Amino acid sequence: MLLLQIRKQRWVTFSFIITLILIIYSFSYNNDSFVEKYDFPIIKQFPKMPHSKKNPVTISGVELGRFLFYDPILSIDSNMSCSSCHRQSHAFSYELNYVITPKELHLNGRRSILPLFNLAWSSTYFWDGRVTTIEEQVFHPVRNKNEMNSNWLLIEKRINRSDFYKNKFKNVFGNKRIDSVMIAKAIAQFERTLLSYNSKFDKVQNNEAKFTKDEQEGYELMLNKNKGNCFSCHTTGVNDLKGEKAFANDGGNTEKELKLLPDRGRELVTKKMTDIGKFRIPTLRNIGLTAPYMHNGIHDNLEHVINFYSDGIQVNNNIDGRINNAHAGGVHFTTIEKRKIALFLLTLTDSSFITNKAFSNPFENEKNK
Ligand code: HEC
Ligand code: HEC
Repeated sequence: MLLLQIRKQRWVTFSFIITLILIIYSFSYNNDSFVEKYDFPIIKQFPKMPHSKKNPVTISGVELGRFLFYDPILSIDSNMSCSSCHRQSHAFSYELNYVITPKELHLNGRRSILPLFNLAWSSTYFWDGRVTTIEEQVFHPVRNKNEMNSNWLLIEKRINRSDFYKNKFKNVFGNKRIDSVMIAKAIAQFERTLLSYNSKFDKVQNNEAKFTKDEQEGYELMLNKNKGNCFSCHTTGVNDLKGEKAFANDGGNTEKELKLLPDRGRELVTKKMTDIGKFRIPTLRNIGLTAPYMHNGIHDNLEHVINFYSDGIQVNNNIDGRINNAHAGGVHFTTIEKRKIALFLLTLTDSSFITNKAFSNPFENEKNK
């Protein structure tokens, strides 16, 4: 009897201690994930944002990625950062057409800088879609001879020597040697937070604003299947075109030119003849900020792009059937119609995105402290 009671007492103490440990553990665990998890805004007019299971976004991860994005430490001569080409004032693109033929693809052409926002919804990246995750993308500019011309061993060494980064990496990834995968993950976390959803176009969708008459008519000209037919290719939401639907030839070349293209676009990835001259169908969001236009920056301003779709279409074997009236050079908008289309396109500019302090250069904030 006595023995049984002692056993019972022991059992009670034992379970008490275990419960206590569990409570403390769950508290610290919850607390951790509560403090750390980055809270993405809910955006009514967009589909649910896809998340990466392999790279959950945390507040300290985003902060670290933001520093790395703005830090020339990633380039060989320490003179170029991601932000040299991807500038917030231009929706994270830049007007210089100073770009870039990925060395590994042996191109001789140049490519214009893609803007960076709402990236999580895309399933392929770059003008030819040669990369399928944001994390993997980070490896490209760092290695590219025309971009940062650096190598990861060098960068890893530099960052492992920096006390500033050592502390920040420890907060995000624990006490491990800093490697390129962690660097890419942190930058990708910051990139995932670059969300643009506050243009006039969004406000109209959410019934918080109204288009002017001209903007509305421009929108309708673009929607109209027999006129612009623009939205049968371009999305008005996030850029969530999947697979081969994400690429098209919009009639920029004659058949003869197509055969001699210095940059063959999607064909570089798929090796299919039918993909020569096909390029990623880009988002029209923030289009007023991201000149020059097209993969090779051939058009300096929106007026030129609209003139191209109106009167400058060239026919080739790979041209997309959704380009109306291609054999006659385009749909021939009137001058007034062109103006209305341009006015509509400018409603896609999100000025709160390019002034959002959460995305600006964090080193400037450090200096001002
Ligand atoms: C010298 C200019 C330059 C630098 C520096 C640069 N980029 Fe880019 N970026 C480009 C160009 C040009 C493209 C389009 C290239 C292509 O399609 O082949 C691009 C494309 C991208 C894309 C694909 C976007 C999309 O929608 O497909 C991402 C993401 C990106 N860059 C992130 C970065 C990051 C992160 C860094 C720093 C590690 C960086 N870039 C450094 C010029 C640059
Ligand atoms: C067949 C699909 C298709 C249709 C229809 C289409 N586009 Fe495009 N658009 C594209 C592709 C593909 C590109 C990129 C072409 C390139 O890089 O050479 C592009 C590029 C653009 C760009 C430049 C984007 C940038 O970031 O450089 C603008 C602006 C544009 N289109 C507006 C329009 C307008 C306005 C219409 C309707 C009059 C239209 N598009 C119809 C497929 C299409």
